[in-house]
Amino acid sequence: MPQRITYTNQVGAALDRMLASTDCTSLFVIADTNTSRQVLPRLHSVRLRQATPIVIPAGEESKGINTLADVWQTLSDSGATRRSVVINVGGGMVTDLGGMAAATFKRGIRFVNVPTTLLSAVDAAVGGKTGINFNGLKNEIGAFAPACEVIISTCFFDTLARQELRSGYAEMVKHAMLNGAQAFADVMNYEPDGDEPNHLLQLLEASVAVKQRIVEQDPTEQGLRRALNLGHTVGHALESLSLQHGRPVPHGYAVAWGLVTEAVLSHMLLQFPSTDLHRLATFVRQHYGTPGITCDDYPTLLHLMHHDKKSRQGEVNCTLLCQLGNPVLDNVIAPDDMHTALDITRDYLD
Ligand SMILES: NC(=O)c1ccc[n+]([C@@H]2O[C@H](COP(=O)([O-])OP(=O)(O)OC[C@H]3O[C@@H](n4cnc5c(N)ncnc54)[C@H](O)[C@@H]3O)[C@@H](O)[C@H]2O)c1
Repeated sequence: MPQRITYTNQVGAALDRMLASTDCTSLFVIADTNTSRQVLPRLHSVRLRQATPIVIPAGEESKGINTLADVWQTLSDSGATRRSVVINVGGGMVTDLGGMAAATFKRGIRFVNVPTTLLSAVDAAVGGKTGINFNGLKNEIGAFAPACEVIISTCFFDTLARQELRSGYAEMVKHAMLNGAQAFADVMNYEPDGDEPNHLLQLLEASVAVKQRIVEQDPTEQGLRRALNLGHTVGHALESLSLQHGRPVPHGYAVAWGLVTEAVLSHMLLQFPSTDLHRLATFVRQHYGTPGITCDDYPTLLHLMHHDKKSRQGEVNCTLLCQLGNPVLDNVIAPDDMHTALDITRDYLD
């Protein structure tokens, strides 16, 4: 069933309308320590004032079994039933963990996502993946469980750090590349640091529609959904390398750099047009700078790509594009080609 998504900058009214037509015995709102302070007071929802708040510590470290157990505990102690509804108000950490809590409590209760970061709006809150980190591994435990409704707004982004906004925007660039030439031009022409919530909301709607279309065709990631991995084979490796060097970069920055390398590979192997590659690389250099790698880093990067959890049989596997809007899945990349693509990426971005 398609996930219901509402795009609005009147979130409180949308929540009240949605809850008025929902048969629900009790309401819970999960937020983190930042969103409970910076977003909840701005929601202006009459129904939400009657909800039991569950506030969890902000930060990725909270996305684990202990916080999940705390949420289950509160739901249980407060008498939540299978007809209760959970509203997750936060970034991807809250929507992943809150979704997981709701998906597992009494074998699953309904939940609504109100994403408050650009990354969660364009990616985490939509598409039905919930989960927590476990045993030192990201998203090791989780469930496919779509929110019954996602309410997307850009009006809470004014308190987000600029880096967070740019990081989320990289996923919009990815969606635009998967969508086609017009979507790509629209996203390249927007200034991600700008203050145009209504324009951004329009772009978000087009961007989320790309993910939704792909997820509807492949909800449990058996095939087509791997198109969404564009930029991520190289991006994850750059993100892990930055952690190893003790200089962590935001996820979206690594994805933006990864998009450039994978567009270079697309050009080398599938004749992806050079004009689109130049446009992308110029945008990424302007907004995300450089990964600052040298050729000494290549063996580690290749090793990380071989061990990417989405790679098959230890090969380096990338989603590439033959042109904007035309992804080609499961390209096995030879080490020499990856070295060349990383060299060209550095020429573009350094
Ligand atoms: N389920 C999926 O398909 C999917 C996809 C992509 C990412 N994710 C997950 O999403 C998480 C990352 O999401 P994220 O980047 O949103 O991180 P996050 O939820 O940790 O939010 C980042 C920071 O911004 C703060 N914040 C949130 N909204 C704010 C606002 N409006 N104003 C001020 N501060 C605000 C948070 O408190 C936090 O400190 C990761 O755990 C990742 O695994 C999941």
